[in-house]
Amino acid sequence: MMRPLHLLPFLPGLSYATTEVLLPLYLYPLPGAWSPIKSAVAAHPDLTFNIVINPNNGPTNAPDGNYDPETSALGAYPNVKLLGYVHTSTDSGATRCNIPFGDITHDIEVWYNWTVNYNIPISGIFVDEAPVNTANDCVNYMQNVTWHIKNTFGSGAKVVYNPGYTGGSTAIQTFYDLSPGPDLVAAAETCFVTSADAWGSLDECPTGGIYTTYDSAGVGSYIDTYVTSYVGSTRLPKTAVLVHGFHDDNGGTPNIVASSTTLSVLLEAVVNRSIGATFFNTAGYQAFHYTPVDIGTFANALDALV
Ligand SMILES: *[C@@H]1O[C@H](CO)[C@@H](O)[C@H](O)[C@H]1NC(C)=O
Ligand SMILES: *[C@@H]1O[C@H](CO)[C@@H](O)[C@H](O)[C@H]1NC(C)=O
Ligand SMILES: *[C@@H]1O[C@H](CO)[C@@H](O)[C@H](O)[C@H]1NC(C)=O
Repeated sequence: MMRPLHLLPFLPGLSYATTEVLLPLYLYPLPGAWSPIKSAVAAHPDLTFNIVINPNNGPTNAPDGNYDPETSALGAYPNVKLLGYVHTSTDSGATRCNIPFGDITHDIEVWYNWTVNYNIPISGIFVDEAPVNTANDCVNYMQNVTWHIKNTFGSGAKVVYNPGYTGGSTAIQTFYDLSPGPDLVAAAETCFVTSADAWGSLDECPTGGIYTTYDSAGVGSYIDTYVTSYVGSTRLPKTAVLVHGFHDDNGGTPNIVASSTTLSVLLEAVVNRSIGATFFNTAGYQAFHYTPVDIGTFANALDALV
């Protein structure tokens, strides 16, 4: 008798989903500045690096003399997907979906022009300040934006929404489920460090601000409490988790001290939960060389788990 497929054993620890990297690379590419990024990409050919390019809160009409060679070089790695940055808000995210539709589609077309006019391989679009609820006709807006990306770049274009949080409601699921819809939704973007030790603009964590630090109720708790309960466990493979300000400690219970060892434990919890993409960094999105978690340390730790 043929052995039915459903009797194949489940092997604990074997991960079926792969967690990719989602790296917002908002560092200007002076010669050499992106070398540590390229080294990490080259050292980990089995990790997919989705890298967000953002020269000017969106594209410049043409890549300048630094962006042109550096984006070409980075995009030439087979494990890199370059994503062009666009955003939906005129007031830094307070109101979502209020940039005129014609302006955001213009930016999408300018990104496409980088590929046709300058031969830079842009694989898709990262939509920042994406909505978490249906206010302001956001469902139609995001559906239109996504159609426009697919019409411009082709149906295989990668689409990432970045709401940054879930909004504390299941309304965010509407955006995950659009068709065509996003490949990834960055529904958790937060700081590890306490606001007392935050670095401000360098790690993009507000000094003295009030926020919940990452995993302050234990390893895996941030995703379990603030992500899974709203997006639903079936959407975790389409979810990205971005953690910056990974230095000092998170002041939690238990208190977690930032180190390359604790990074591996926190990342294991991310990978175990089938999260689609992640990024941890000591600083923010403009410096990738600070300890304990520079870009090389992060890539080593993630690659060891996927
Ligand atoms: C894209 O490039 C073409 C050819 O250079 C140009 O005519 C067009 O205006 C550009 N589109 C945008 C949106 O900049
Ligand atoms: C979406 O696109 C349709 C068709 O072009 C247009 O009528 C509608 O106003 C757009 N809605 C939004 C919110 O952008
Ligand atoms: C991840 O899953 C493995 C296998 O089930 C388990 O041994 C490990 O403790 C888990 N790690 C975390 C941090 O959740």
